[in-house]
Amino acid sequence: MKHINLPIDIEVYTMEELSQVEQQLLKAAIDATQNAYAKYSHFRVGAALLLNDGRTVIGANQENAAYPSGLCAERSAIFAAQSQFPDQPIRTLAVAARNTEGHLLANPISPCGACRQVVLEIEDRYRQPVRILLYGTNAIYALNSMKDLLPLSFVDECMHP
Ligand code: THU
Repeated sequence: MKHINLPIDIEVYTMEELSQVEQQLLKAAIDATQNAYAKYSHFRVGAALLLNDGRTVIGANQENAAYPSGLCAERSAIFAAQSQFPDQPIRTLAVAARNTEGHLLANPISPCGACRQVVLEIEDRYRQPVRILLYGTNAIYALNSMKDLLPLSFVDECMHP
């Protein structure tokens, strides 16, 4: 038997250590938490995308009485960006969340599996990695590709090896 160990590179920052552009993107994600419609979970998530042309697109989670009909903040932002600016690759995705008491999470939020898969498709579609910033009041995690959060992933190429 052999083992395969897949390394994951996570950079850990304080807000002040990040560039002004990334600080602003995280602040946009924090602000976007206010736009969440989280009637059922009361967990408010905000996402902010930086497109290649410098534009910012935000998203927030949107829930529904028929639970699966809702959508995460990340995919709300991504699908809005792709719908409005389909020629623009996504350079960076920032995510922040508030717990049911309205406080920003102490530890970085971690995107769900479906959102990871969607971001991976973005990397594949635009042939450009997406930098990911995950906000926590204690620490900010940065990853330089969604591949770090979704190893052994399934992409188009897997069907046409
Ligand atoms: N949620 C997001 O919007 N993004 C995540 O990364 C994790 C979870 C939303 C989905 C649902 O509206 C609520 O948070 C609780 O799961």
